[in-house]
Amino acid sequence: HEEFTKVKNIAKIELGRYEIDTWYFSPFPSEYNDTPKLFFCEFCLSFMKRKEQLQRHMKKCDLKHPPGDEIYRSGTLSMFEVDGKKNKVYGQNLCYLAKLFLDHKTLYYDVDLFLFYVLCECDDRGCHIVGYFSKEKHSEESYNLACILTLPPYQRKGYGKFLISFSYELSKKEGKVGTPERPLSDLGLLSYRGYWTRVLLEILKKHKGNISIKELSDMTAIKTDDILSTLQALDLIQYRKGQHVICADPKVLDRHLKAAGRGGLEVDVSKLIWTPYK
Ligand code: COA
Ligand code: NA
Repeated sequence: HEEFTKVKNIAKIELGRYEIDTWYFSPFPSEYNDTPKLFFCEFCLSFMKRKEQLQRHMKKCDLKHPPGDEIYRSGTLSMFEVDGKKNKVYGQNLCYLAKLFLDHKTLYYDVDLFLFYVLCECDDRGCHIVGYFSKEKHSEESYNLACILTLPPYQRKGYGKFLISFSYELSKKEGKVGTPERPLSDLGLLSYRGYWTRVLLEILKKHKGNISIKELSDMTAIKTDDILSTLQALDLIQYRKGQHVICADPKVLDRHLKAAGRGGLEVDVSKLIWTPYK
């Protein structure tokens, strides 16, 4: 696609209380090109070329959180489910915003087909967007996540792991296995590898006796291919008599778990109130 090679068009954005340097090109309508800084409404994600426009907008914008249903709340963290069909402009604005930090993903302009799960930190001024992931309403390839983003000011604090974990909790509620859409970025793959490693090794540590890849998949909603590749990368799988045998030496597991880093923010499943999209 042509947009892969396009040079960065917007250098900075303002979003809520943050000014953020962008990373990549994003296909904003042409009248926004070569604007040094774009001003976003942090609630409806409308974007403007001038600060005064944003200030005027903020006086009349009555949103204080993403449009859609709050499906999770724990402490100051909330997740909103936004249907791209019901909130087309919001979905498109979110894609424009996200593309500024995503390299090789094609944007889905057909936001109708997607649900957006938007993570917010809430206070008395409203719910401030931290990041999101998108998910196809119907995926033939059992994708449970299309794009994932933690906005730069919030990165490396565990929100990415929270979003990944959340995507698998939704898959568990659907009774399906899931996998992220490929290609994954370097940071995306790092985050997934960390998540898969921690989830799988925690189970292996606790489990007594043999366990199969299929059983691990049933327990975690992680696709068997991803389980295999994770365990293979850690050299925890042997192939004996036509069977995969998983190493369960507690010392080895602990060493890998340590290397996989912190667990990050936990999803409290009891706070998730959601029924799968039909
Ligand atoms: N350098 C090295 N490792 C990094 C890293 C960085 N800049 N950012 C994340 N990681 C790795 C670490 O292992 C980290 O765990 P740790 O902090 O315990 O060491 C793990 O990934 C996840 O960290 P976390 O804080 O939960 O993730 P995040 O909130 O920073 O979000 C992404 C991770 C991928 C969502 C975020 O980097 C992002 O939005 N990137 C731009 C968009 C993108 O590439 N999306 C994926 C493409 S589909
Ligand atoms: Na996508």
